[in-house]
Amino acid sequence: MAVPTRPRGDQTAAWRALQDASRAGGRNFGDFDLRDAFATDPQRFAAFSQSAPHVFADLSKNLIDDATQALLFELARRCGVEAHRDAMFAGEKINTTEQRAVLHHLLRKPAQAHASHAQSAINSEANGLTHELAQVHATLDAMLAYAQAVRLDAAITDVVNIGIGGSDLGPQMAVLALDEFTLPGKRFHFVSNVDGHELAAVLKHLRPQNTLFLIASKTFTTAETMTNAQSARRWFEGQGGTDMARHFAALTTNVAAAREFGITTTFGFWDWVGGRYSLWSAIGLPIAIAIGEAGFRDFLAGAHAMDEHFRTAPLQRNLPVRLGLLDVWYRNFLGFTSRSIAPYHSALKRLPAYLQQLEMESNGKRVDLQGQALPFGTAPVLWGEPGTNGQHAYFQMLHQGTDVVPVEFVAVRKPMHDLPGHHDRLLANALAQAQALMVGQVDAGGHRHFPGNRPSTFLLLEELTPASLGALLALQEHRVFSSGSVWGINSFDQWGVELGKVLARDIEPRLQSGDSTGLDGSTAGLLQKLRAK
Ligand code: F6P
Repeated sequence: MAVPTRPRGDQTAAWRALQDASRAGGRNFGDFDLRDAFATDPQRFAAFSQSAPHVFADLSKNLIDDATQALLFELARRCGVEAHRDAMFAGEKINTTEQRAVLHHLLRKPAQAHASHAQSAINSEANGLTHELAQVHATLDAMLAYAQAVRLDAAITDVVNIGIGGSDLGPQMAVLALDEFTLPGKRFHFVSNVDGHELAAVLKHLRPQNTLFLIASKTFTTAETMTNAQSARRWFEGQGGTDMARHFAALTTNVAAAREFGITTTFGFWDWVGGRYSLWSAIGLPIAIAIGEAGFRDFLAGAHAMDEHFRTAPLQRNLPVRLGLLDVWYRNFLGFTSRSIAPYHSALKRLPAYLQQLEMESNGKRVDLQGQALPFGTAPVLWGEPGTNGQHAYFQMLHQGTDVVPVEFVAVRKPMHDLPGHHDRLLANALAQAQALMVGQVDAGGHRHFPGNRPSTFLLLEELTPASLGALLALQEHRVFSSGSVWGINSFDQWGVELGKVLARDIEPRLQSGDSTGLDGSTAGLLQKLRAK
């Protein structure tokens, strides 16, 4: 079925009204000041905060008022965000440049949910996906049984995931985040870079008989992963390893290529799972080995709860939509070009890197669905470090720099350790930073002056568990969907990564031959430098 054309954000009256609102008073967003907004509206916290599955979100410290928010909802409605969302859930090929459906949400849909709703009209859309859902659960069951077997196999002490991008960032972030749920006695390593230092540093601590290599690649062609996989196999055989079936498994949509490589233990997935959305698929095997079957099912259930929220909540109470619309407001109307992620939980230290791929590979696009150049900006730059570390590095700039950078705090109410005093101090710092950004220090002059009125969002989890992490990540996926939908772009392709890959293939042999024919002056000059003794 053809995907109907939806108006792009800037083609709506709501967009123009938002432009007017943002310029009112001749200043950026008129005279809006968060301090006044709280002073005049004692209900602001309640009005601009909401609960969604496993996540409480305080949006009240954002540069937004009721009128602007209403216009943003109108914008989403006019852009057909709901119809676009429904098309995704129905399995339509909304990834139009690759002619693919976008069904990562199906990976977290319980098998029984489908069966129990089979009669209902509401689920008639999903009936078209019966075959896919059955495949999902067959693979999930097999993968989780394998994960359990690896967990019970005391000889396997080290699990090495070899993959890059979506085949690395998600599993790596989640295994770190869920460390408290991880089986003792197994170490997890993540090798992504083609830089041999990374693999060599891991291998020197390993023994082949105690190691399981997971070769994670959707395509099974990615140069970095193939290079590392070959070196891992060479090392394994060179160290006397023999049983490839026991010590290597492949996680891929290209099972034939994995078999050709010599791996017989394989777990598949499908072209309708984007790489950066794949940690819910077989790519999540390291997570499943770490936290076990029940943990992984909880992880999927948390994400599914957020899917259901996104799929059914009205726009006004739909947290992913609200976050995505705030992103549009900041990027296109207030001119903010980045967002800082501040996880106040050290186990979430790879969350910013994971979110960078999710946001910037999805929405870092310069043309719309029809291929027309966009007259407005898209994905913000995402960056950040865990709090409180960031406070002692770049928060200076957030408080007193010339650019306004919206900050997204992520905090967890209950700690998983019993060291006295730490957690209150950590949470106090998160609150204080958000407060300082907003309140400022306006009575001080010169170098001590903090202007304040700087926006932040505060996301709060009760505990960091597989379920709450799943929900948090699904929230982020759907927020990226929502802003991408308003921008009228394809959030599910990534053509921008191809050119560099092609050029690297051209340059590599030149490092040996020294041939710089046809190269630009800088590349030719650097090539000679790199070859010089
Ligand atoms: O080069 C970008 C990319 O295609 C990402 O989208 C993807 O997550 C990564 O490479 C790894 O791809 P694969 O899983 O096919 O090895």
